[in-house]
Amino acid sequence: MAAARSHRWLRWPENTAGRGSGRKLAYGADYNPEQWPREVWDEDVRLMREAGVNIVSLGVFSWARIQPGPDEWDFAWLDEVMDLLHANGIAVDLATATASPPPWLTTLHPEILPVTAAGETVWPGARQHWRPTSPVFRTHALRLAETVARRYADHPALTAWHISNELGCHNVYDYSGDAAAAFRIWLRERYGTVERLNTAWGTAFWSQHYTGFDQVLPPRLAASHPNPTQQLDFKRFSSDALKEYLRAERAVLESATPDVPITTNFMVMGETRGMNYADWAAEVDFVSNDHYVRPGAQALDELSFSANLTGNIAGGRPWFLMEHSTSAVNWQPVNRAKAPGELARDSLLHVAHGADAVCFFQWRQSAAGAEKYHSAMVPHAGPESAVFRAVADLGRRLEELAPLAGSHRKPAPVAILFDWESWWASEQDSHPSSLLRYRQEALDWYSAMLARGVRADVVPLGTPLEHYRMVVAPILHMVGEDRAKELVRYTESGGHLVATYFSAVVDENDHAWLGGYPGPLRDLLGLRIEEFVPLLPDEEVRLDDGSAGTLWSDDITVTDPQVEVLASYADGPRAGQAAITRRSAGAGSAAYVSTRLGAQGLTGVAARLLAKAGVAGELPPRLRGSVELAVRADAASEYWFVVNRTAEPVDLADLGGEPIDPADAPEGGAGVLPPRGAAVLRRPTA
Ligand code: GAL
Repeated sequence: MAAARSHRWLRWPENTAGRGSGRKLAYGADYNPEQWPREVWDEDVRLMREAGVNIVSLGVFSWARIQPGPDEWDFAWLDEVMDLLHANGIAVDLATATASPPPWLTTLHPEILPVTAAGETVWPGARQHWRPTSPVFRTHALRLAETVARRYADHPALTAWHISNELGCHNVYDYSGDAAAAFRIWLRERYGTVERLNTAWGTAFWSQHYTGFDQVLPPRLAASHPNPTQQLDFKRFSSDALKEYLRAERAVLESATPDVPITTNFMVMGETRGMNYADWAAEVDFVSNDHYVRPGAQALDELSFSANLTGNIAGGRPWFLMEHSTSAVNWQPVNRAKAPGELARDSLLHVAHGADAVCFFQWRQSAAGAEKYHSAMVPHAGPESAVFRAVADLGRRLEELAPLAGSHRKPAPVAILFDWESWWASEQDSHPSSLLRYRQEALDWYSAMLARGVRADVVPLGTPLEHYRMVVAPILHMVGEDRAKELVRYTESGGHLVATYFSAVVDENDHAWLGGYPGPLRDLLGLRIEEFVPLLPDEEVRLDDGSAGTLWSDDITVTDPQVEVLASYADGPRAGQAAITRRSAGAGSAAYVSTRLGAQGLTGVAARLLAKAGVAGELPPRLRGSVELAVRADAASEYWFVVNRTAEPVDLADLGGEPIDPADAPEGGAGVLPPRGAAVLRRPTA
């Protein structure tokens, strides 16, 4: 995993609003003033001040307005907005405005439009309709970025650069001729010779042998399953192509303003998977993330998981929550409004996991356009509304929390490994089951740790593991020899590893390990799997510990008498065989869970494995599971964030620490957390 390259945080202008000269949390939104008449801007800045807003992202979708034609520029309005914001103490995270090319550009150059796997053109009409590898697009976009950068280089409101927007949100996979050409260059760099590519892709299968790179294509719509390694390499390439585009914009900005930090908003959330953000993090001065809640039983856990992973991608350092929503979004099948309290709780949970900035999409709810039903800080109803009151109240709370700005995440006792390449590879087609969901398995383990009151860090592969008592590797599908050695070393030096079904099944080329699964971890786990035994959608297998598995089971032979069988299959096709095992290994251990137990089932397994690994919750037993604990720390203090996971009030009486915000516990002490409540307690560093 690569760490952020220079760790530069916002450059706060001297007059920025908000308490605390050095330390402050950023608070604000995407601001799109071009959607509104001039007189609204004055109300905007007045309300921003009222709400405690001290930063906005400006110009994210302004290309058509800034550059109305190939050689026409209109900066007068943007100059005025920049000046107005600055006069009101609001800093600007200024966008390069390249996210959505204007109609004149796509009319002049339709060759920048992406192409789907089936060969259809992705037409203009929405946004982000550009090929990441288009040289023509790049020329125009970099010219815009440079013109914006030079114009505002010395503007006192400028605090950071916001490159493009959510790179890859709609255009990560492009199958055009430009993409094919760039893919071939990428493959040449990776393999050197076409023979090496043939070996890596296993082209002896189905007569796919290439005799030149010029014959290679992106995995376009084919008669049957395209070559798996070709598909995997295309995913690697597509993530790299956008990263390379990010670098190109960055180079332009660096030459215009070497001192201004650079970021771009990642999308560590839900099933968004195309961009390997662990690999991208080194390209930005600070990591930014966008997160939107999806309703469901694990909605809050998923928010926490995403924030946690973002914090770890950022190397434990503060990161920037660039977008989330004050209430409903507009792009789910049913768009639920947030319940009272959720706006603040969701925001504080991001801060708990290291965010030093809380921003929303967007400042003022649009009256027109595809996002007119998407909530904002100022809703259609105007400032006389529950949403705006909640927004202003959060602004006040974030000012109280200013002292913790700059503090880092305190590492947890447990790590859950997260690997984009295993995600990509494990969910490809022509597999034992198309129902397997990589991220869901990782989230279920995270939920189980939350239910046990044990903090876990969701960490990208490559993170040093030696400080973790336990490391869970959910569906760590792709394990090469080096990775396997690292895991063996980890257990030998006292770590407790837990691997799940469909782990260590293939190497980096997506070739199956031979001799029984899970190839390079067989000896460590003390077992051998001859066959996978996936389950049908409505099938369930019972285990003799009372739990039940779905999705998957394995035909396990225990090969080492040292292995302790923690649970066996009680029925189903493998009745009587081992289902969950644990083997002492060196000073540590290696456990294996061969079926999908879901968050609830894993809560029981986690209890047993945690106890054996000697990991206990840091909260008093009464509170474990009902509140989430996340800890940030600086030299003098720890900041304990406690977030209510239940629909009942939770009494924090026996939890030490002083609330930073007196409003959290008017009577003193740690107080009572209302449903959907969150509080921050300061304690001396342990
Ligand atoms: C993000 C995007 C924003 C806005 C938001 C709505 O993907 O960056 O511009 O569209 O979603 O939820």
